[in-house]
Amino acid sequence: MKLTIFVTGATGKTGFFAARTLLEKGYRVKAMARKESATTRELQALGAEIVHADFLNLASMEQALKGVDRAYFVYPPENGLLKATAIFILAAQANNMKTLVNMSQLPSRQDHNSALTSEHWLGEQMLDMSGIAVTHVRPTFFAEMLYLMNGANILREGKMYLGHGDAYHAPITGEDIGRSVAAILDHPEKHEGQRYILTGPERLSQHDIAQIASEVLGSEIQYVPITLEQWADAAKEAGLLSEFLIKHLVEVSRDYRNGVFDKITTTVEELTGQKPTDMRTFVEDNRSYFTPEYLKAYAEKMVAEKQAA
Ligand SMILES: NC(=O)c1ccc[n+]([C@@H]2O[C@H](COP(=O)([O-])OP(=O)(O)OC[C@H]3O[C@@H](n4cnc5c(N)ncnc54)[C@H](OP(=O)(O)O)[C@@H]3O)[C@@H](O)[C@H]2O)c1
Repeated sequence: MKLTIFVTGATGKTGFFAARTLLEKGYRVKAMARKESATTRELQALGAEIVHADFLNLASMEQALKGVDRAYFVYPPENGLLKATAIFILAAQANNMKTLVNMSQLPSRQDHNSALTSEHWLGEQMLDMSGIAVTHVRPTFFAEMLYLMNGANILREGKMYLGHGDAYHAPITGEDIGRSVAAILDHPEKHEGQRYILTGPERLSQHDIAQIASEVLGSEIQYVPITLEQWADAAKEAGLLSEFLIKHLVEVSRDYRNGVFDKITTTVEELTGQKPTDMRTFVEDNRSYFTPEYLKAYAEKMVAEKQAA
């Protein structure tokens, strides 16, 4: 009988693709979300069982993990990661769940000035001590950050204002991360204990990314390097992101400027057997993200999340 795999963050950028790939591989998938949405309905149509639970509520997580063999743990980039990790470990132990893939970050380290990134490091240690067989994935900045961080300014004035300096990274898509997670969960015994840095296929500066976006979207888009203070002030004024997330993005931008993200690995291809998506293909395939309708819906979602927090 096929095993049951629990996918948290199943409506998010990586969890959706992990769930979809696992369903394609024939697993039974329990997909976690807090509420019904178009994405939960899509997953249901693909064969997933939708489970409503809250990372920060132990009883709901214990209930959600019943009958589960393996899981993908991905907490959103918000406050509460360590509490959610502790709750996940307790709920997994209560249900004798033995195998897990954990979402972390490329710069994960103990002394990071971002609370989120240092908590990713601590969370990795907690999971390693839990008795669960864990594989950690540490992706670089997602390709999706192009529209999440710049979409409104691209539409308004053809500009990308970021504090990333002139440094480089190899952007990775949520889909490639999700497919890599599914590949690990398919054969976890080969990967237990690993910390995989996941990147896309090409090393790009923000100037390169602006050039690719200009060519694909057919209008001039320019990257304007700004200071971290200028970026934080603009983000506060826009009012979409929590203070926690603004502080986090400032600190990882500082890493970016300092070359911490200037890494490229072949791990996605080794795990999935497929080359990861390049930035040009990502923008071509996702033109709809750069439309007023999409960005308005995204802004409304961010404001609602902020108000609910
Ligand atoms: N963005 C980057 O460049 C980057 C780079 C490296 C690592 N990361 C890491 O990636 C992770 C985020 O992954 P992602 O982008 O795939 O996630 P995401 O798109 O932010 O989605 C997370 C999902 O979690 C669900 N959720 C939120 N709060 C919840 C709660 N209290 N209980 C249950 N579910 C909850 C939400 O679904 P519902 O609203 O449907 O419940 C949401 O769809 C973070 O840990 C971040 O540190 C990000």
